[in-house]
Amino acid sequence: MTVLRSDPVSSLRGTVRVPGDKSISHRALILGALAVGETTITGLLEGADVLATAGALRALGANVERRADGVWIVRGVGVGGLAEPETVLDLGNSGTGVRLLMGAVASHPITVLFTGDKSLRSRPMERIATPLSLMGAQTVARAGCRLPLAIIGTARPMPITYRTPVPSAQVKSAVLLAALNAPGRTCVIEVRPTRDHTERLLRRFGAAVDIEDSGEGRAVSVTGEPELRPCTIDVPADPSSAAFLTVAALIRPDSEVRLTGVGMNPLRAGLYETLQEMGADFTLENQSDAGGEPVADLIVRGGAMTGVAVPATRVPAMIDEIPVLAVAAACAEGETRLEGLSELRIKESDRLAAIAAGLTACGVDVTGSNDSLVVRGTATPAGGATIDSQHDHRIAMAFLVLGMAARAPVAVTGAETIATSFPGFADLANSLGGRITQLQGSGAGPAAS
Ligand code: S3P
Repeated sequence: MTVLRSDPVSSLRGTVRVPGDKSISHRALILGALAVGETTITGLLEGADVLATAGALRALGANVERRADGVWIVRGVGVGGLAEPETVLDLGNSGTGVRLLMGAVASHPITVLFTGDKSLRSRPMERIATPLSLMGAQTVARAGCRLPLAIIGTARPMPITYRTPVPSAQVKSAVLLAALNAPGRTCVIEVRPTRDHTERLLRRFGAAVDIEDSGEGRAVSVTGEPELRPCTIDVPADPSSAAFLTVAALIRPDSEVRLTGVGMNPLRAGLYETLQEMGADFTLENQSDAGGEPVADLIVRGGAMTGVAVPATRVPAMIDEIPVLAVAAACAEGETRLEGLSELRIKESDRLAAIAAGLTACGVDVTGSNDSLVVRGTATPAGGATIDSQHDHRIAMAFLVLGMAARAPVAVTGAETIATSFPGFADLANSLGGRITQLQGSGAGPAAS
């Protein structure tokens, strides 16, 4: 097990690019595997989660290779062409990987067994199994519809219209991917829009996607049985990874950090909107388009922030950023109120409980309920605690960020989990002036200096 410690620092300064977007990386590989021909991907996140998806796609018959120059090449099998793997697919820690692949295989006449690590095996899969069963696939799973599970795909998938019961891009994407091998039009309706990377990439690969804002919500329809055209995808830097360095810079006065090429998809922008309301000082430069996604350089300057009330409607656009927003709130003056957080209970860990316990251990005044969090900040929290990551990369990184602004260092156990989404996090933070050191273990910590 890796234990990292983050010591207080005075400021962060410099220019860095965080690794590629995790959501887009999974989708680029999966759609590449379903296209006919060669897809080229630059900037792919080479974190454990995405590598697990690459391995699963190879087992399903696609050719997925990393060239020596870091460019990834996927030679797809075409829609309907996935083959039954000989063995169980282990998706590690990756909820996105397993849920999207469950969708992709469900409309093939094959049986696929999925498993994952302890955290992933505890997460509910019914939200995916239910719409896939409406399309004709069967799921056999452990109690509570948990991994390991088998998808028994159907040879005659049915197009459906499905209203997602919770705002979830994973559910929407699983249905859209299954729909590719179904005849006719499949429609997913979401009351609260979630990240639309699948829709954007499907269009880029040549699928017919319609998006309509109806009285019921946002309706996304895809026409099945397209011939997906391979393409070139330039993956933006992940805004969810950039969030950790953004908050680290904001909570240290005199900081000035430039994060280059960050994805600025409006359906992922909730954190940045909230930080702006808290008085954060950041600007965007070099705004452009990378493969159908908006990107920009983010210039962040440290300074005082004040607490705010965050509307529940904004949560889907910042679902992965709540741990680090809670850290920003702990270092702001006054109260920050967050509501509509029940989905956080079933992420890589029970994030609501992990945030509340970690902040309390660091001397921060916090109260939580089943779906809310109230943080009463002071510019400099006490720190001086050891936090268990609970196999959750974002909990690990959030508390290492808090350590940078605390009165005493913060240690994180189980920090190897950071490699699922942000390999090199400690080195990158340290290159800006962070002081993260490895107390124990190997692999996830900063390079020895
Ligand atoms: C993701 C969707 C979100 C998010 C996850 C990535 C995706 O999950 O938390 O990290 O790539 O579709 P939900 O769909 O469960 O909200």
